[in-house]
Amino acid sequence: MIELVNIRKSFGEKVVLQDVSATMQAGKTNLIIGSSGSGKTVLMKCMVGLVKPDSGKILYNGKDFTAMNDKDKKDIRQEIGMLFQGSALFDSMTVEENVLFPLDMFSVGSYKEKRKRVAECLDRVNLSDAAKKFPAEISGGMKKRVGIARAIVLNPKYLFCDEPNSGLDPQTSLVIDKLISELTKEYNITTVINTHDMNTVMESGDHIVYMYQGLKQWEGSNKEIIFAKDEKLNDFIFASDFLRDAKEMRQMEMFQDRDWRNKMKKDGNEPKS
Ligand SMILES: Nc1ncnc2c1ncn2[C@@H]1O[C@H](COP(=O)(O)OP(=O)(O)OP(=O)(O)O)[C@@H](O)[C@H]1O
Ligand SMILES: [Mg+2]
Repeated sequence: MIELVNIRKSFGEKVVLQDVSATMQAGKTNLIIGSSGSGKTVLMKCMVGLVKPDSGKILYNGKDFTAMNDKDKKDIRQEIGMLFQGSALFDSMTVEENVLFPLDMFSVGSYKEKRKRVAECLDRVNLSDAAKKFPAEISGGMKKRVGIARAIVLNPKYLFCDEPNSGLDPQTSLVIDKLISELTKEYNITTVINTHDMNTVMESGDHIVYMYQGLKQWEGSNKEIIFAKDEKLNDFIFASDFLRDAKEMRQMEMFQDRDWRNKMKKDGNEPKS
């Protein structure tokens, strides 16, 4: 589990994160949502050590990442896989060379073992046929999958994805979401995703942190979000009539389940019709 405790960060006069405390649950798909400029990327960069918070703690299984010596920090970094916005592949390397790169940098196995691991990861993201292609020759969704293969090649405990669906069509977005969720479960990874994709929120977020102007405005599960009363969260998530209808339908569905029905009645959250 990753705990953020009172994280603050400013760039010059601009306060970007104001006292953010939140928990990223172990072995789950955690989402950070919020409008553009709310501080999602800066928060993620703090978690992986690319940005140093002005104050606050980032605890990896209880140990403060911000206060660690270089060796301990390096150990945690080796357990982190990251999928960057725009995939950030090396254009002059083939797909398999891109996935091999972290292994060559950080692992000690033989060339044969490394090639085997690359082949496994490419197979897992369904890209074995594209191994010899260059990034310019493959589609946006395929590039994301190469990015995912590269992020998991070192068997990370933590996986960070910044806007994995940006620039993808809705169907391809679903494929990427499903892949990330499956890998999270399969390898028991603690995954953190920055997203503004409402499909992702409804379908694959186990735990959701909503950021508003540098503050954590709300935190809860993707079931709880259906009943959340926070006005800013509701304006953000259920922004269209279509999504408000979808929310009511989901509430009715959940009302069929006895446990949820009792909870909804207790909280005064019964569906309107
Ligand atoms: N290196 C930096 N120097 C100065 N300001 C920065 C820097 N990085 C981010 N900011 C500012 O911090 C604020 C939050 O940025 P951030 O990139 O975290 O937003 P975001 O929630 O990820 O937005 P988006 O959804 O557009 O990706 C913005 O106002 C941005 O201009
Ligand atoms: Mg961002």
